[in-house]
Amino acid sequence: MVIVMGSEATQDDIESIVGIVSTSGGEAFVSRGVNRTIIGLVGDIERFAALNIRGMSGVADVMRVSMPYKLVSRENHPERSTVRVGGVPIGPDTVTLIAGPCAVETPQQTLEAAEMAKAAGATLLRGGAFKPRTSPYAFQGLGEEGLRILADVREKTGLPIVTEVVDAHDVELVASYADMLQIGTRNTQNFALLQAVGKAGKPVMLKRGMSGTIEEWLMSAEYIAQRGNLDIVLCERGIRTFETATRNTLDVSAVPVAQRLSHLPVIIDPSHSGGRRDLVLPLTRAAIAVGADGVIIDVHPHPEQALCDGPQALVNGDLRELARVMRQFPPLLGRTLT
Ligand code: E4P
Ligand code: PEP
Repeated sequence: MVIVMGSEATQDDIESIVGIVSTSGGEAFVSRGVNRTIIGLVGDIERFAALNIRGMSGVADVMRVSMPYKLVSRENHPERSTVRVGGVPIGPDTVTLIAGPCAVETPQQTLEAAEMAKAAGATLLRGGAFKPRTSPYAFQGLGEEGLRILADVREKTGLPIVTEVVDAHDVELVASYADMLQIGTRNTQNFALLQAVGKAGKPVMLKRGMSGTIEEWLMSAEYIAQRGNLDIVLCERGIRTFETATRNTLDVSAVPVAQRLSHLPVIIDPSHSGGRRDLVLPLTRAAIAVGADGVIIDVHPHPEQALCDGPQALVNGDLRELARVMRQFPPLLGRTLT
């Protein structure tokens, strides 16, 4: 069961509901969104029905949700949500361009990549300081030093930072630098990590597990929402299939399917999907045409020297061309490029 609070609801109203629910043996999870607060109830639904919560102060609506995920479900929140990252909107009215290096390697490489991103019109900077790598011998990222570089580059360019956290113990540290926390495909079902980012007070970009179904992905989002954070952006980044011509198979249908099931924004990562520079532009066109709320793109000033994922990184000219093409699409769809 989900309780939607009205915009006039006070903290006392919320606490009264949490109190009455726990007295009746249930659990209440409060999620504060930009426009309203939602309380998800877990426990005996018939007992909750007898509490007459609908008549309590501040309550706008009470809904029984049939989906296995509740707080992120569109059933309980018919309007699609907009998530703001350092003031930049990601949602149904916009197409957001996020770009930056796959991995933070040096201050100069990160600044150059960020300047390329900004000049092309990107409004958010991506960059990994903690890199999840298949091989333990591959570059694992600079850790906190990488976060400091990102913060410095944000200072110089004004671009808010999206960066990955791979370990629940590092959430507080990464959140102290990041504007948005990224959960990578390898950690989409790391439930302790999801719960920790749910409590971190920062927007979260949740990638789809490389072998995860859309329902599993939304259940992962529910873990974050249940800990009080509804500022979640879903990111389709390609899934594992039998096809080997591309690094992953971009599941474009995941965008409208997830948008129909959930109110959360959905973006696409064409870089990790195709794994090849020449596919980034066509997959970006597909992303926008299918209704994605944004794209996240790897760029590098010298991809041949990149310590991670060089073959999929765009160089300056490619990124400018991608941005030029992107500018043509959103107006056709009644959206604005941000
Ligand atoms: C993302 O940036 C990942 O760290 C990277 O794609 C991992 O690739 P690998 O598992 O081949 O090292
Ligand atoms: C990334 O975007 O840096 C990343 C690790 O991607 P994914 O989790 O999709 O592989």
